[in-house]
Amino acid sequence: MSIRLRLAVVFALASALLLAIGGWLFVSTLSNSLMSSIDSQLSVQASHGSSYLTSNPSIPTTPSGTNAPEYVVQVIDQANQIRGASAEAGQQPLLSPSLLSEARSHAILVTVMHNAESQRVLAQPYSGRSGWLVIAAVSLESFNTTISRVTNQLAVGCSLVVLLAAVGAYFLSRSALRPVERLRQEVANLSERRVPEVVGVPKTNDEIAALATTMNELLMRLRSSLERERGLIADASHELRTPFAVLRGELELAQRPGRSHDELVAAIAAAAEEAARLNRIADDLLLLSRGDQDELPMHFAVTNVHQLFTMISRHAEGRMQPRGISCKVEVPIDLYAKLDGDRVRQAIDNLVENALRYSPSGAEITLAARAHGEDLELEVADHGPGFPTDFLPYAFERFRRPDSSRSRIEGGAGLGLAIAKTIAGAHGGTATAVNRLEGGAIVRLVLPNAIVDAGADLLAEDLS
Ligand SMILES: Nc1ncnc2c1ncn2[C@@H]1O[C@H](COP(=O)(O)OP(=O)(O)OP(=O)(O)O)[C@@H](O)[C@H]1O
Ligand SMILES: [Mg+2]
Repeated sequence: MSIRLRLAVVFALASALLLAIGGWLFVSTLSNSLMSSIDSQLSVQASHGSSYLTSNPSIPTTPSGTNAPEYVVQVIDQANQIRGASAEAGQQPLLSPSLLSEARSHAILVTVMHNAESQRVLAQPYSGRSGWLVIAAVSLESFNTTISRVTNQLAVGCSLVVLLAAVGAYFLSRSALRPVERLRQEVANLSERRVPEVVGVPKTNDEIAALATTMNELLMRLRSSLERERGLIADASHELRTPFAVLRGELELAQRPGRSHDELVAAIAAAAEEAARLNRIADDLLLLSRGDQDELPMHFAVTNVHQLFTMISRHAEGRMQPRGISCKVEVPIDLYAKLDGDRVRQAIDNLVENALRYSPSGAEITLAARAHGEDLELEVADHGPGFPTDFLPYAFERFRRPDSSRSRIEGGAGLGLAIAKTIAGAHGGTATAVNRLEGGAIVRLVLPNAIVDAGADLLAEDLS
């Protein structure tokens, strides 16, 4: 059922209920007030009971001054004999003997059926004569007619109002929902290809305008993530093309007849290197995509950061020594943190790889780590040329490399920093890069709340 129809039905039901309650209250108030005016008239008629008394009770009397022909009055003695009556009162008491005897003790007001017609009857003791009663009665026909006419008219009027309310609610909601339907159609007509495409925001400054604005923000976010994804796929295929081409070239060359043993060995070695490069890129892409989906498997453990950095530095020594580059580890011996040691090592390895690539011969690379409150700060600093300033804001984007010929020739796929950032992110942290005033770059990872008490040696042993 559409919202319009639902609103109309709810509105109709609610107004029908309200009108029914209102109508019932009105009719019962009207009926009560009519009945109480009838009752007071009966009381007036009964008070004139003495004027109906005659010496011969079979002759009805019409007293002067109290002429109200619709009312009938009877005066009855203790033997239930009629001693006086109005013209239309009849020869039989208007009430049954049991009611008559009840009325002798106190006045009663009852509605009884008399000759297939309902009557309102007041019976009360006749003053001055013990055991006598005066009875005043009136037909309720006109009362009943009035009440049923009012009820019918109210029912017809209320039905019309309910119908009007339902139709009004339907059209009102239709016009209120028209902008929503327009928005829906606009969104349905959006094409995936045309960029940037947004829905029209009405100038009404209302909820619909807010919905359209939010929808446009969402569309822009979706579009930019779609573009990023497309860019990544393009970059990834571009990046994979070169090693694949080299691999194919090497294998084709090796296949040619007349190749010497040495040439074959060299071709296979080159092919293996390209295959390893392909493998690395595929692993990196897998890590990044898992990181994006928060599905990067993490194994947190209390780790001595000094030992971790010393190990990283030792592993890099082999590549540093030929160029006379040295590595300094500046980490307090008792610095413990809860982190994924393998992942952090992978991130720091990437940063050391970069520092190594850009450091001049004989320079020094510093691996530093410190506690900053509860946060763990990890740094790799070098004395190279630093990041090109215009590149710094994009340094952590995937496949991003500056346009300088040096990084095109010497650089890798452009995934190292992105991976470091993803790993920091998996620890709930951040990665930043700055250039030092004295020259060189510093890349810093901050892992929040990673610091563990220095006295946690035992705990570390337990976990390891
Ligand atoms: N320490 C540094 N000094 C100067 N430039 C740097 C440094 N580290 C990174 N860069 C610049 O940032 C770019 C991106 O670095 P990143 O590590 O992400 O990719 P890459 O080293 O080119 O490739 P990969 O790490 O995937 O092998 C590098 O190409 C380089 O131009
Ligand atoms: Mg790198």
